[in-house]
Amino acid sequence: MAQLFTPFTLRSVELKNRIVVSPMCEYSAEDGYTNDWHVVHLGSRAVGGAGLIITEATAVSPEGRISAGDLGLWKKEHIAGLERITRFAKDHGAAIGVQLAHAGRKASHHIPWVKNGAQLTPEEGGWQTVSASAQAFSEEEIPPVSLDQTGITKVIHDFRRAAGYALQAGFQLIELHGAHGYLIHQFLSPLSNKRTDEFGGSFENRTRLLREIVKAVREVWPSNLPLFVRLSATDWHPEGWTVEDSVKLSQQLTPLGVDLIDCSSGGIIPGVKIPLTPGYQVPLAAKVRAGAGVPTAAVGLITTPTQAEEILEKGEADLILLARQSLRDPYFPLHAATELGAEVTWPIQYVRAKL
Ligand SMILES: Cc1cc2nc3c(=O)[nH]c(=O)nc-3n(C[C@H](O)[C@H](O)[C@H](O)COP(=O)(O)O)c2cc1C
Repeated sequence: MAQLFTPFTLRSVELKNRIVVSPMCEYSAEDGYTNDWHVVHLGSRAVGGAGLIITEATAVSPEGRISAGDLGLWKKEHIAGLERITRFAKDHGAAIGVQLAHAGRKASHHIPWVKNGAQLTPEEGGWQTVSASAQAFSEEEIPPVSLDQTGITKVIHDFRRAAGYALQAGFQLIELHGAHGYLIHQFLSPLSNKRTDEFGGSFENRTRLLREIVKAVREVWPSNLPLFVRLSATDWHPEGWTVEDSVKLSQQLTPLGVDLIDCSSGGIIPGVKIPLTPGYQVPLAAKVRAGAGVPTAAVGLITTPTQAEEILEKGEADLILLARQSLRDPYFPLHAATELGAEVTWPIQYVRAKL
């Protein structure tokens, strides 16, 4: 039996297989609301047989959006549109989670296909960004404001509120976006966190915001539903966040109610060399899994069923996340089952495609 098609249980949620649609920003929302695009995009991946679908980075506040096209979950009016999507996914056998995010200093940008995703100017509707420290991502950008205690309390509150709305929208899982140089990562990494208060300096202090967010989310997110954290498991930089830091942090997050670490990497500063080879982040997932004894997800340049199967067989990760391959082939899970000789149920409407 192919490992890729074995179920995986997280608290009360059973995934029918190990294939997960990785979060992917679609930059197609207005004022945070879903529309037909999100229904079709996420819905077709449920039809395609994924075990779990995680929505794109969904902003916990308007100022936490990368762009004006991001999905949001900062007001109760956002719930209904998302609920339509979660219902459809579950009806078609896919579990569905939401990635909750705050972009910090990477907020206030054009969508990628307008002006190459450059930062918005105030005249273009740009807004003041916030971060751990008042340091811009790059020299060309307007610096963020360093969050004070009131600002930090608001961020924690915004994540908690969004988690409550996520529950009402029918999500079965939350992933906190702590990777890719966004706000949580800006606190974690010594490359972007230059604070001298209790949220900066030592490892304990830099990781405090994430721990506080996890605790706040767990206050409203039921104990029978799983919580993931996505980390950039390394900054790929000698003075940055390391995989050893990721192992240590993961050990601290498990007792707070985190069930799985989704191991991505990079994104905190520009110009870093990342070794982009097939499965290049898999060793990070393997190290965190072995070192911290927590389930992990592997992601990044995983494109074939046999590659995914080998990762699971070697015990390097528990789940396989696919982003671009899932864009190329929304039916990847159904095709992978054929290739690996696994029995899966096709949507009844599509059964004749198998004949
Ligand atoms: C179009 C697109 C949008 C993405 N948006 C997000 C996102 O919202 N949140 C996130 O954590 N990663 C995001 N990513 C990164 C992917 O989830 C994934 O980690 C990365 O693409 C590597 O996996 P792949 O080689 O399978 O594409 C995005 C990637 C793509 C291609």
